Amino acid sequence: MRTRPLKVALLGCGVVGSEVARIMTTDAADLAARIGAPVELAGIAVRRAGRTRPGVPEHLITTDAEALVNRGDIDVVVEVVGGIEPSKHLILSAFEQGASVVSANKALLAKDGTELHAAAAEAGVDLYYEAAVAGAIPLLRPLRESLAGDKVNRVLGIVNGTTNFILDKMDSTGAGYSEALEEATALGYAEADPTADVEGFDAAAKAAILAGIAFHTEVTAADVYREGITEVTAADIASAKEMGCVVKLLAICERAADGASVTARVHPAMIPLSHPLASVREAYNAVFVEAEAAGRLMFYGPGAGGSPTASAVLGDLVAVCRNKLAGSTGPGDSVYTQLPAKPMDQVVTRYHVSLDVDDRAGVLAQVASVFAEHGVSIDTVRQQGRDGDASLVVVTHRATDAALSATVDKLRALDSVRDVASIMRVEGE
Ligand code: HSE
Repeated sequence: MRTRPLKVALLGCGVVGSEVARIMTTDAADLAARIGAPVELAGIAVRRAGRTRPGVPEHLITTDAEALVNRGDIDVVVEVVGGIEPSKHLILSAFEQGASVVSANKALLAKDGTELHAAAAEAGVDLYYEAAVAGAIPLLRPLRESLAGDKVNRVLGIVNGTTNFILDKMDSTGAGYSEALEEATALGYAEADPTADVEGFDAAAKAAILAGIAFHTEVTAADVYREGITEVTAADIASAKEMGCVVKLLAICERAADGASVTARVHPAMIPLSHPLASVREAYNAVFVEAEAAGRLMFYGPGAGGSPTASAVLGDLVAVCRNKLAGSTGPGDSVYTQLPAKPMDQVVTRYHVSLDVDDRAGVLAQVASVFAEHGVSIDTVRQQGRDGDASLVVVTHRATDAALSATVDKLRALDSVRDVASIMRVEGE
């Protein structure tokens, strides 16, 4: 074993960073044996010094991340700060210094992944980011390496634990969205500002990364259609139950049937209870991958939290250190298909449409004819009368988003339709 240590700069010492520092210290001997050289934590850059960080060597703390990255002897930079800047600048500086980078930064990778991969390749170093998607679950490396000889056609997953916890609470207790969010916040699952999670930004960044790797094309967060869970009601959840379904926030990445384009989208959807993703409870993540030769694969586990995310970071750290010692790099970006991202209005799926209508002769026929006019075929209709008005639930066969939107616009204009109470996509069949 080499005795000269590989030097690691850690940027960020929050929930994930402090756990990375702790494991690097307590498991130093095992990590050294697996890598073939000791790894030394050379410095830890934080925003504010002076905080108590149990288990973190105090003498390594600095507030000057720039100086740490550029000090000239760093082999690997671990970035667990998040956000676009200064993380991007620091990562590019690390590459210029000849250091490999391990990052958990989904927002940055989903925005500038192609540029960062090109900079890493130019510098002859590694850029690994298993922790950016689905926490501890090994997912990016299986997609990039284990499935490199196969053709992935679809990735369907629950990649945000906070929203899964909220939807699961709504499902198991009948609570409304606000009540379930309050509980998620009280238990520490939701952050004080839950926007990134509940509006689907976090899941959309992860979907962009997954689609890019799965389909060997460039997909950014801006290419991902996004809807969060803030409009999901207790009535939607109850309606899903009546259909034998459950509501999940899904990230769906698909290669078009003709192979000429891809789509990536994040939105709440009803899935049948028989689908493997339906049984993913609480804050867990799970991703279903459909590949031509392999068939259907499911990846499941904790998608967030200090220890699970640190596990993925340390796995990457071991990999890039091994590559450094071998004088090589691991597989980089594999963008060669240049498939365009198809707009959402051309995406085809099934829909659950809930309407409040007048309960009188001819209304059902009128509603059905609007669906027919737009070429949207109805699968099932369920009606329940309530003193002069009725609730009508229509589930369609597969139709484009554009056709469904036009149908709904026309339904809203009918005198007999009092309200389009909800529209939700139905997936997983
Ligand atoms: N906030 C994310 C989640 C974890 O709830 O899954 C980090 O990506």
